[in-house]
Amino acid sequence: MAIEFAQRIRRIPVYPAAGGYAEQAPLVRLASNESPFPPFPEVRAAIESALDSVNRYPDPTNSLLRERLSARYEVPTSRIAIGNGSCDILLAAGEALLEPGAELVYAWPSFSVYPHLAAASGARAIEVPLDGELRHDLPAMLAEITVATRLLLICNPNNPTSTALELARIAAVLEQVPPHVCVILDEAYCEFNLLGDPDASIELLERHPNLVLLRTFSKVYGLCGLRVGFALCGSPDLPRAVDQVRQPFFCNALAQAAAVEALAHQDEMIERVSRTVAERLSVTESLRAMGLRVADSQANFCWLALDERDEAQIMDGLRERGVLVRGGAALGGGGPALRVTFGTPTENARFLEALAELL
Ligand SMILES: Cc1ncc(COP(=O)(O)O)c(C=O)c1O
Repeated sequence: MAIEFAQRIRRIPVYPAAGGYAEQAPLVRLASNESPFPPFPEVRAAIESALDSVNRYPDPTNSLLRERLSARYEVPTSRIAIGNGSCDILLAAGEALLEPGAELVYAWPSFSVYPHLAAASGARAIEVPLDGELRHDLPAMLAEITVATRLLLICNPNNPTSTALELARIAAVLEQVPPHVCVILDEAYCEFNLLGDPDASIELLERHPNLVLLRTFSKVYGLCGLRVGFALCGSPDLPRAVDQVRQPFFCNALAQAAAVEALAHQDEMIERVSRTVAERLSVTESLRAMGLRVADSQANFCWLALDERDEAQIMDGLRERGVLVRGGAALGGGGPALRVTFGTPTENARFLEALAELL
């Protein structure tokens, strides 16, 4: 007889991993919206020096990291949550907020982890289609809020479509969301968004105790391999609740040390963002010159429609040429599409060359 699992195990989708991890030959990895840059040298040194203490458990309160984040963003430490990646905070928030009979509202397609929150908790997911420009349809999302709604997720810029909304539009929606609904504004890619100041959303926290800004060290700081993210919150309630549902010591010592050091390198981080934005402009132009429809990206990746073309065949062709990207189908994109991370100029050139051959 086989092991009997909880019902919810049948509902929870398996995260679609990018693959290629056991590959011998170096691949051009443009499938996971990672940073193409290695950690800053000072961050590497901080990780090395933290190695000496890995016989000890890490600080379970993440106190130094929360202090540094508090100084950087002017948000009290009590309103900051840390996570083993921002995904960890997202999943813990789902566990703390949702249960059968509750509802959560998010746009679709959006980040592939959001459906997991409903499946894991038994809450009802309301997926609101993106508008014609592949952006969140905020009025339609607002219209779905009921007394049963516990969570509204807004991904800005949106993964996988790369598109973003002006903050003023999100701010206007927040005025209309009832205070019992937690709003998670997932800003994993906000530093790449040129529609406004990435830190402008922080002011909204003072007006909205139900607001949570979800951020990460995975993208602009290039630390996704260590797993560390954070949330800046309108009240101490969510940081407290997510700590209640998680194991202690959820953020490892190397990740804490690396994140603390990374925060001290804002200028270098901004310089790397501008290099990625320059690649964004040139890759987008090249793709459009090939006649492809490319969404207006405000992130470190682009979303291109393949129209009548065969997505699987193009993915395979790219893979044979050593280039790893994401297929739109696996990301819930509807028609054939690709999500492609911007890498180094050399990596991007390899991708464009391979794609041109295939088209
Ligand atoms: C929209 C969005 N939110 C959150 C995350 C999670 O990032 P991490 O758990 O690495 O902080 C990602 C990762 O790709 C993402 O795309």
